[in-house]
Amino acid sequence: MTQVGIESIGLYVPRYYVDLEDLARARGEDPRKYVAGLGQERMGVPPPDEDVVTMGANAAGEALRGVDRSRIDTLMFATESGVDQSKAAAIYVHHLLDLPAHCKSFEIKQACCGSTAALQMATAFVAQRPDRKVLIIASDVARYGLVTAGEPTQGAGAMALVVSAQPRIVALDPEWGSYTEDVMDFWRPNYLDEALVDGKYSIKVYLKALTESWKQYAAESGRTFADQDRYCYHLPFTRMAEKAHRHLAKINGVDHPPAEQIEASLRYNRQIGNSYTASLYIGLASLLETSETDLTGQRVGLFSYGSGCMAAFFSGLVLPGYAQGVQRGRAEDMLHNRQRLTIDEYEAFYLHELPEDGSRYVTETHRTGRYRLAGLDAHKRLYESCAPNRQADAPVHAVAAT
Ligand code: CAA
Repeated sequence: MTQVGIESIGLYVPRYYVDLEDLARARGEDPRKYVAGLGQERMGVPPPDEDVVTMGANAAGEALRGVDRSRIDTLMFATESGVDQSKAAAIYVHHLLDLPAHCKSFEIKQACCGSTAALQMATAFVAQRPDRKVLIIASDVARYGLVTAGEPTQGAGAMALVVSAQPRIVALDPEWGSYTEDVMDFWRPNYLDEALVDGKYSIKVYLKALTESWKQYAAESGRTFADQDRYCYHLPFTRMAEKAHRHLAKINGVDHPPAEQIEASLRYNRQIGNSYTASLYIGLASLLETSETDLTGQRVGLFSYGSGCMAAFFSGLVLPGYAQGVQRGRAEDMLHNRQRLTIDEYEAFYLHELPEDGSRYVTETHRTGRYRLAGLDAHKRLYESCAPNRQADAPVHAVAAT
């Protein structure tokens, strides 16, 4: 059977963050609730000239370094915070990255699990056509209402994976466990900019979906809890992974699973917050890039959860030489070089609205990656590519009202 897996990965996070202790004080909450109770220290905040397209293009640019672009056959863009009801975010990225015209490009949605649906389709496609590669982008802005219980679990980020029959990082196992149920734990009607959520219920459904998808995975693969050396979970907030890991261990008769099975996978998320479709894969990058031990030959169990709901449990083997395939230190530099926002600045970013009347609008320049939203004209989004880090010292401007 053809070995299929992850050949390269790329990650991008916005250049601004809110410190959750600042947010807790502003909201009259005990900072320990956010930092210890939810397990979050900071959350990424995109400026008005970034969106899922620019974040996704930045992540994909990283993932495509050293990859033969002429063999990218398909670009799948998973998001639940897309910018257009019709045109796929993938098409904008296809243009920004100058991908070949024969590369099919489309968007996929099923809450945070859309990226995993893309991965499953990509593995099947590559198994059939081992000469081709698939680029998957997962990019999201997690957005709840200001001064709501969900607010400290916001965040933003993007992840890109090249899936091929020449995997250098992780070879995926062929068994998948899945679970689907029609529930209203988290959703966002077309007329709202922020998600609605039944928070406590969403945690219950997450754990039920974990149980059910694990059962199918275990039955299909014959593997047990002890057969996975490490675990990565969908990360709405890091304490969720701790709850999930204890839950999975318990239903498998293990009372105290070792903390190191998940610890390294949580490091980036603690600094970024939820990034919906990207968060499981940012967890995987965090594991591969920050683990102190050599992971070669270790099996990683992965759990993907998308509210509404669909979930999947699957696994992969870390390949020899994976450390050369991941960019150790690069994400940590990105996280350290972000600018801290005051709560007033964060709220100004949050409340900023693009015009909806078709008028021409030039977006104020903030710190971004290589790609940014330059503005709008006649209801069309205008993106631009610029020199990397060109505004590294640009101040946070008050965001102009439109
Ligand atoms: N010191 C230390 N810990 C404290 C504390 C303090 N002073 N005060 C509270 N805590 C602890 C609580 O005990 C609790 O921990 P446990 O769950 O272990 O008991 C934790 O901090 C959170 O406190 P609450 O449960 O009281 O918090 P809340 O009701 O205000 O909201 C939340 C928590 C439901 C997660 C809310 O942030 C939310 O709705 N978030 C969005 C939904 C979400 O992330 N759901 C996850 C599953 S759905 C999913 O995964 C898909 C997705 O991406 C959205």
